[in-house]
Amino acid sequence: MLIQPISIGYTNPNNYKTKNIPTFIPEVQKQSSSINQSYAPFLYSNISFEQKLNYCDFLHELHKIHKNKSIKNIVLSTINNKENYIGSGFNADVYSIPGIENYLIRIERKNFNPKSLLENPIIPELQNELAPNFGQYIACNDHGFFITKKVHGKSHSLPNWSEVIKDLETNKRELKYKEAELILNKIVNLSEFPQKSYDDLAQNIQKLNKYTKCEIDIMNPNNLIVDDENKTINIIDLWYKHSENGSVAPFNGVDSMVNLMLDPLTYDKVFNKLSFKLQDKLTESAQKIIDKILIASEKYGLERNRENAKIIYKDIDKNLDIEFATPAYEKFLETFADKLA
Ligand SMILES: Nc1ncnc2c1ncn2[C@@H]1O[C@H](COP(=O)(O)OP(=O)(O)OP(=O)(O)O)[C@@H](O)[C@H]1O
Ligand SMILES: [Mg+2]
Repeated sequence: MLIQPISIGYTNPNNYKTKNIPTFIPEVQKQSSSINQSYAPFLYSNISFEQKLNYCDFLHELHKIHKNKSIKNIVLSTINNKENYIGSGFNADVYSIPGIENYLIRIERKNFNPKSLLENPIIPELQNELAPNFGQYIACNDHGFFITKKVHGKSHSLPNWSEVIKDLETNKRELKYKEAELILNKIVNLSEFPQKSYDDLAQNIQKLNKYTKCEIDIMNPNNLIVDDENKTINIIDLWYKHSENGSVAPFNGVDSMVNLMLDPLTYDKVFNKLSFKLQDKLTESAQKIIDKILIASEKYGLERNRENAKIIYKDIDKNLDIEFATPAYEKFLETFADKLA
């Protein structure tokens, strides 16, 4: 979605407003000006992790690799080379920068164009150092250009999920067997991750709740990034918040994890495409995932946030003028009523 800063910094709120997606700008942000931003440290006293990931470090890295080239020229040549393309969602295309390990370029298709990149300053975003890496941005230009923290791993659904879901929602076509199989394999793989991977994610969400006002975008399962090598489960893409979309607390919790991992919008369609044997495998893996989530959530005090999830799905239906997401979510909750009632 239209991502939000995890910071006390300020970027022009008007540029994050779309017709359907309201935005949240904390009071403290409303009072400051992007022009006046500096590299002043965030005002928490016991700064802990992710401390080094910021725009200065990014520029330093860039300079080591690309010596005398300007950042804007690097950006333009990066996004013009297909090899650097990583993925897209409903709003944005994302690219890696050759030689840069920890940051990505994110381009919001609707707001970006090369001319505005050249004409507008790139503004560093002050970081809340206590917030874990949720792929938040470290700089942007208020015209659809962002540098974000990279999260290592693979997206948790079909590469073109946002395209597929549009077709499924409008009954243009059915899910293909190959697509169902891919989603099944990802769910099975995730179900085999150790409890610790789930615990670490729950702890990160606990910190997100404690140190920020951000809400996880549970709609697109590709906002879950799964790192098979390090066995970590991560979330990217934090979006509109609380009062403006009518969200109700708790905003991030058990159901944020369940919904990103099992995608209620495709779950039933995947199930119906599979053989009986694979249907059993899907059910068994999904139950394993839910059990691990419930254990992790208990450890880190995360609550059920099903009511908030319902509001988000209702919002999708309203914005697209269809009835797809809400019934799909109701069916999903029924399927797992013994665990998620
Ligand atoms: N910080 C990141 N680390 C790793 N991969 C990322 C990161 N940001 C984006 N990606 C990849 O790029 C894709 C699109 O990015 P993003 O989620 O920002 O787009 P979007 O249009 O806002 O998505 P949505 O459909 O959820 O609104 C992601 O699904 C993911 O595969
Ligand atoms: Mg996304």
